[in-house]
Amino acid sequence: MLFMDRPAESLDELFDRESEVKMLLESVSRRALTLVLGMRRVGKTSVVRAATRGRLRVYIDARIFEERAYISYDDLLGALRSELRRILPLHRRLGELLGRIRGVSVAGVDVRFEMGRRAPNISELLEAFDQWAGERGERLVLIIDEAQELIKLRGRAILPALGYAYDNLRNIAMVFTGSKAGLLLRFLRLEDPDSPLFGRYVERIDLGPFPPELSVRYLEEGFRQAGVEVGEDLIRKAVEALDGVVGWLAYFGLRALRSPRTALEETLEYATRLAASEFCHFVEYTGSRRYIYVASICRNGARWSEVKRHLQATEGRPITDYEVTKLLSNLVNYGFLEKRGDLYVVADPILRKALEGLRC
Ligand SMILES: Nc1ncnc2c1ncn2[C@@H]1O[C@H](COP(=O)(O)OP(=O)(O)OP(=O)(O)O)[C@@H](O)[C@H]1O
Ligand SMILES: [Mg+2]
Repeated sequence: MLFMDRPAESLDELFDRESEVKMLLESVSRRALTLVLGMRRVGKTSVVRAATRGRLRVYIDARIFEERAYISYDDLLGALRSELRRILPLHRRLGELLGRIRGVSVAGVDVRFEMGRRAPNISELLEAFDQWAGERGERLVLIIDEAQELIKLRGRAILPALGYAYDNLRNIAMVFTGSKAGLLLRFLRLEDPDSPLFGRYVERIDLGPFPPELSVRYLEEGFRQAGVEVGEDLIRKAVEALDGVVGWLAYFGLRALRSPRTALEETLEYATRLAASEFCHFVEYTGSRRYIYVASICRNGARWSEVKRHLQATEGRPITDYEVTKLLSNLVNYGFLEKRGDLYVVADPILRKALEGLRC
């Protein structure tokens, strides 16, 4: 069934995306690091999971850290542990290799990591993955979903381990997804000479929304599969409102199977609520309500100078150029704004709607 409420797990569950899957698979077999970038609900997890099904893979979901202000090293190891407990029953040899590492104990199909100062080194864990994959003559895909969340890691740095893996562990292909592209790039510091990943080549796959014709086909096909007739008019309206973001189209499709009359309204309401809550989290995290004004000013696009003027008028006092630039570039980094030529604009129509009279 084309409409699903969870990420796709196999290629036959994916609508379209053939070229992105092909690019990803080529990259995974040749490159050390691939980024899969795209806005919320656009289908990143689905493409990555479906494309890598059946391969050796370790999947870390960093999204679980989204609402946290910071992450400890033990938290990160905890996320890895839950994935390993899934893998180890099928792969005893990996357990053997991991069990040799200081700070790791493997008992049967369970794995435990020491905490705090005695915690194992990520590089050594990655070496074990590499050796395991090498012995099997395969490449292991290390997926970190929403990897930008790891920017919040405190206590130990993970970038040196990733840099080490990039340079030395030939049997590991890293795939990071990110819905906040700017933040992910900032985390990786590819252009910072002091970064372990400085100057490294990174393959980048941008997942975009479906163009309107494709969205229409997706909905038509989904309804056909479900054996439900839905009017052309409603499909056209939904495609217009949901802007080709497949996650929202899927949500709408599932709703429409039950109540076609209210489905679009319900989808928009839910999506808007989610966008508002995500934006308010960001405002809370940064501690600056100025972001609300700035994003509202940019709803339909605004130049830097307009943003400064409006902001000063709202606050009734001067604001430095530096501050205006910082506000705008943070909003871009977090994926709330896009820069198009001279204009800063809220690209996501759902966020645009959420910003109407937003209260955080
Ligand atoms: N190519 C596709 N064909 C059919 N359904 C899809 C496709 N891509 C995604 N979906 C559906 O859209 C929804 C969102 O997909 P997914 O979770 O992969 O997106 P995401 O970009 O990872 O979202 P998030 O930013 O919330 O993590 C899921 O219900 C999934 O089943
Ligand atoms: Mg996802």
